[in-house]
Amino acid sequence: MKMSREQKYRLIEEAGEEEIALLKQQVKQSPWRQQYHIQPHTGLLNDPNGFAYYQGEYHLFYQWFPLGTDHGMKYWYHLKSADMSNWQDCGVGIAPGDRQDSHGAYSGSGIEHEGHLYLMYTGNTRDEAWIRHPYQCMAVMDRQGQITKWEQPVIGEVPTGYTDHFRDPKVWKDGELFYCVIGAQREDETGSITVYRSADLRQWDFAGELNTSLPRFGYMWECPDYFEMDGQGVLLFCPQGLQPEGDKYRNIYQSGYVTGSKMNLDTLELQHGEFHELDYGFDFYAPQTTAGPDGKRIIIGWMGLPDIAYPTDHQGWAHCLTLPRELHLHNGKLLQKPVPGLASRRGSKASFSGSLTGRQQMPDFAGEAYELICTYMMQEEQTAEDGHTVQDRNTELTGETSIGAAGQASSFGIELRTGGTEKTMLTYDAASKRLTLDRSASGQPVAEEYGTTRSCVLEQPLSRLHIFVDVSSVEIFVNDGEAVFTSRIFPNPDSQGIVFFAEDGTVHLQAEKWDYHR
Ligand code: FRU
Repeated sequence: MKMSREQKYRLIEEAGEEEIALLKQQVKQSPWRQQYHIQPHTGLLNDPNGFAYYQGEYHLFYQWFPLGTDHGMKYWYHLKSADMSNWQDCGVGIAPGDRQDSHGAYSGSGIEHEGHLYLMYTGNTRDEAWIRHPYQCMAVMDRQGQITKWEQPVIGEVPTGYTDHFRDPKVWKDGELFYCVIGAQREDETGSITVYRSADLRQWDFAGELNTSLPRFGYMWECPDYFEMDGQGVLLFCPQGLQPEGDKYRNIYQSGYVTGSKMNLDTLELQHGEFHELDYGFDFYAPQTTAGPDGKRIIIGWMGLPDIAYPTDHQGWAHCLTLPRELHLHNGKLLQKPVPGLASRRGSKASFSGSLTGRQQMPDFAGEAYELICTYMMQEEQTAEDGHTVQDRNTELTGETSIGAAGQASSFGIELRTGGTEKTMLTYDAASKRLTLDRSASGQPVAEEYGTTRSCVLEQPLSRLHIFVDVSSVEIFVNDGEAVFTSRIFPNPDSQGIVFFAEDGTVHLQAEKWDYHR
C-alpha cells in the first residue's frame, strides 16, 4: 500500500501508538528478518551515512524512514561497534523536521575534529510548489554521544549551473584543510561532482567541479566518496541513467569507482582509468567508506536499490546494510574482503574435503545463516592422485572402482538455500572464467524486469568462494576479493539445503562452514 505525500512526510511523533504497534506486529511476522545484518526495526533503511572511527569505535548511521517502506521523511539511525560485527543500537542520530531539513535528513558523512564527530548531511526541503531546495547541514556529536544540529546550513545554495539534485556531502581532510565532494546534476541533466573547501567545517567555499574523463555518464551521480590509498586516488560514486552493456550495468542504478593519480586539489583534476562496478550482484548501492585506526579502508553499502519493489515492502520493513568489507588496491582495481571481526559470530562448524563429481547434497552444510569458505583445486594431478569423488565417500566405494571422472570439470558451483523447487545458484564456467549468480528460482521474485542472472568474467580462474548467507541475503566474495556478488533473496524459510556440483569431470574441493548466531 503506497502512502500519500502527507503520510510519507510525517515525523515519528505524528504517528499514533497504534500505527507503530501495527507496524511492529507486521515486522515480527516477516519470514525474512535477517539474523546478523543491520536492518531497521520498522520502516525503510537505505544509505549508510556518517561512517567514522571515533573514540575507539566505529560509528555508523543509516537513512531511515520509520513509518513505512516508502522513501519518506528520512532520519539518521545510529549504531556503533568496536569490531564491526556486534553493533550497539544507539537510536535516532539525526531527526529531520527543522527549517533546513524539513523533508528529511538526507545522506552525508562524518569526520572527527577537535574531539567531536562532525556529521555533514543534506537537508532536504520542499516548498509549497513541491520544489526541492537542498541545504548542506551540520550536526555535531560530543564525547557523550549527544548530537546537536546547527540551525544554519553550512552551504545554503546550489552553485550556478546545477539543478536541485545536489546532495550527499562526503568530507575528508588533507593537510590543514577540509574538502567535500557533493553529487550534483548539471543543468544539461548530466551527472557530476562538485568540490568544496573549508578551514573549520563551518565556512565552506565552492572550489569547482571535479574534472574527470566521464563528462557525460548518466544523469545524476549520487553518494560520491573520495579517498587515497597506496598513493593513488579512488573516487566512488553512483551514476544513474547508464544503459546495460553486456554483463555491465544490469541494475536500475550503478555503484562503482575509478582509480588513478591523487586528486589535484588546486585544479580539481582527477586523472583516472575506466569505471568499474563495485559489485556484480543484484542489490548494492550508495556505499560509504571510512578508515580505521590501522589505516585500513572499510566499505559498507546499502543492500537494496531505489525505485525497486521488494517482497518485504508489505511486511512493515525494507532493506538492510551489507557486511563491512576491507578495501585493497591491486593493479588499479579494488579488492573487497569481509572484515576479520565477523568471525566472532562463528558457531558450530562443518567441513568437507575431497573430489566432487556430479551433484552432491551436503546435509551438514544446511542452514539459513552461515559463513562458508570453498577452496577449489583444479590441477589434473590432484584429481588423478585422489580418485575419490564425493559420491565415492557416500556410497563407500573404494578408490579403485571410482566412477569415471578423470578430467577437470567444465563447470562447477553451488546451490544455496535449496528446497522444493527453490535454489540460488552460482555457476562457474571454466573455459570462459565466467561466474554467474542465478536467482530465478530463489523464492519470491524481485525486479525480474532487470533480469534474473548476473555474471562477471574473472581475471583469475575460480579458486575460492567466501560466502555469507543470511535469512534473506547472500554475499559472495570471489578469489582474493576480485569480485563480490551481493544480493537479497526471499526463499521459503524451509529452503535451507545446499548442493555442491561439478559437471563433466571432477573438481577438488575443500569447504568449511560455520553457523552464525545473532
Ligand atoms: C541514495 C539517495 C541519496 C539521498 C538519499 C535519500 O540512495 O537517493 O542521494 O541523499 O538516498 O534517502
